[in-house]
Amino acid sequence: DAGKSGYDHYMLKEIYEQPQAIRQSTRGRILELDGSVTLPDLPESIVEETDRVQFVACGSSYYATQYGAALLRERGIPTQTFVASDYDVERIPLESGTLVVGVTQSGETADTLGALRDANRAGATTLAVTNVVASSAARECDATVYIRAGPEISVAATKSFASQQATVAILASVLDGRRPNPFLGGLRDLPSDIQRVLDTSNAREIAAEIVDADAYFFIGRGYQWPVALEGALKMKEITYAHAEGFPAGELKHGPLALVTERTPVVALVTGSNEVVEKTVGNVREVESRGAPVVVVTDSPEDVAHLADFVLEVPETNPALVPVVTNVQLQLLAYWTAYELDRPIDKPRNLAKSVTVE
Ligand code: G6P
Repeated sequence: DAGKSGYDHYMLKEIYEQPQAIRQSTRGRILELDGSVTLPDLPESIVEETDRVQFVACGSSYYATQYGAALLRERGIPTQTFVASDYDVERIPLESGTLVVGVTQSGETADTLGALRDANRAGATTLAVTNVVASSAARECDATVYIRAGPEISVAATKSFASQQATVAILASVLDGRRPNPFLGGLRDLPSDIQRVLDTSNAREIAAEIVDADAYFFIGRGYQWPVALEGALKMKEITYAHAEGFPAGELKHGPLALVTERTPVVALVTGSNEVVEKTVGNVREVESRGAPVVVVTDSPEDVAHLADFVLEVPETNPALVPVVTNVQLQLLAYWTAYELDRPIDKPRNLAKSVTVE
C-alpha cells in the first residue's frame, strides 16, 4: 500500500500523475525558441525516409494509434492502424518508405512484438513507442521513442495512454516538420489543462447517479472517436458493465436500437462548430429515447441544456483536447467501479501485459 501514496488504488494515483507524466513525455521535445518539436531519439535518416506509416498495437495502445493516425493523415502522411494480432504482412502492401510503429506501454505484448518482427523480416523500418526502457520492443526495433510516463501498476492503462497521445502528437509534428508547429502551445499547456480537470472534476458525483445501468455508450467524432472507444474500454475493464464506443455518426446505423432510459450515453462534444452541431444532433436522438446524457465539453454554455450531466474540460488546441477529455472518462470509469466495489487495480481475467498470442 505504501506505493499508493494515500490513494485507494494505483489507478487513481496514476490518473492524478498525468500532469507529471505529460511533463516528462514532452521534456526536451518542445523547442520554444524556434517554434518546433523534436524527437532526439528518432534518427534523422528515418524521418527523411518515411513517406507513410503503419501503426500496430493492442488494447488502449491501439486507440492511441487511431488518434495518432488521424493527426498524421491530417498532415498529409498516409497512415494505417492495425490491431497487432490482425497485422498480416503477407496480405497488406508494405511499400518502401513505410515506417511501422509499434505502440506498446510494456514493450512486451506478444501480438505487438509479433507484428513488429514480421515487419522487420519484410524489410520495413520499425519504431517502438514504449514506456519500458530496454523492453523487447525497444531492443528489436530500428529506433525507440520512450513515452516516459513512469511506472504504471494498475492493469487498466491511464497515464501511459495520455503519454502515448502526447508522444504520437509529437511524432506527427516531427514527421510533418512544419514551423511554427501548431501544437506547440497546446502541448505546453497540457499538464495545467489536465490539472484543472483533476482539481474540478465532478465525475464522482455523476458516477453515483449512473452506476445502476444496463450498459454505457460513448460517442465522439474525429479525434474524439478513439477517445470514445478508450472511455468504453476503461468502463468495461474495471466495472464489468457492458460499454461500447461508437463514432457518433454511426449511432443511427444500429446502436440506437440499444438505447433506453437505462443506458447512459457519454457524448464527447468538442471541436469545430460544424462537428459540435452534428454531435449535438446525436445527443438529441438519444435524449428523446430517455437515455441519461453525460456531455464532456469545452463549451458548456452551448450544450449544457441538452445534458443531464456535464463534465467540463478547458479549451485548448482542438487536436489535443482529446488528451484532456480522456481524463474525465478515466475518472468516470474509476468512480463507477468504486461505487460497485470492484477490484479496480486487478480486474478479473485481465493482465497488465499479455505475453502470449
Ligand atoms: C493488456 C492491458 C491493456 C493494454 C494492452 C496493451 O491487455 O490490460 O491495458 O492496453 O495489454 O498493452 P501494451 O503494453 O502493449 O500497451
